[in-house]
Amino acid sequence: MKIIIINGPNLNLLGKRETSIYGTKSFIDYFDSLKNKFSKISLEYYQSNIEGEIIDKLHEVGFDYDGIVLNAAAYTHTSIGIGDAVKAINAPVIEVHISNVTNRESFRHNSYIAPNCKGIILGFGLDSYRLAIEAFHPKISE
Ligand code: DQA
Repeated sequence: MKIIIINGPNLNLLGKRETSIYGTKSFIDYFDSLKNKFSKISLEYYQSNIEGEIIDKLHEVGFDYDGIVLNAAAYTHTSIGIGDAVKAINAPVIEVHISNVTNRESFRHNSYIAPNCKGIILGFGLDSYRLAIEAFHPKISE
């Protein structure tokens, strides 16, 4: 089983950025723990601050991988292009957010991505990513 986590803008700063919302752990450290936990699957990670690069990555993996865990960060709320890319590909996509965007500023309430996703997981901190991977295949962590 091949799963990729795709993170959008500013998520490279996790651990340093707005730590009261996003926590103090870097994504690289968290990703290492995910790789250990899900050692039976092929798990990859990609991050970009550039909208078009995220779209290119979705095109690249979207006809081959078994699942995509996508935190498009701020582009979630602005990018029709990323929403269309999710619609265009075959691989199922789960949208994740670290914070509960529904109880934050109103501009974070809309997602151009969610309507084209298999489901959404938000508000569980970094654990949102683990829950998304398990949602693709509940047996993979056994
Ligand atoms: C976020 C929520 C977005 O609104 C914000 O722009 C982010 C991170 C989250 O994971 O909680 O950068 O996607």
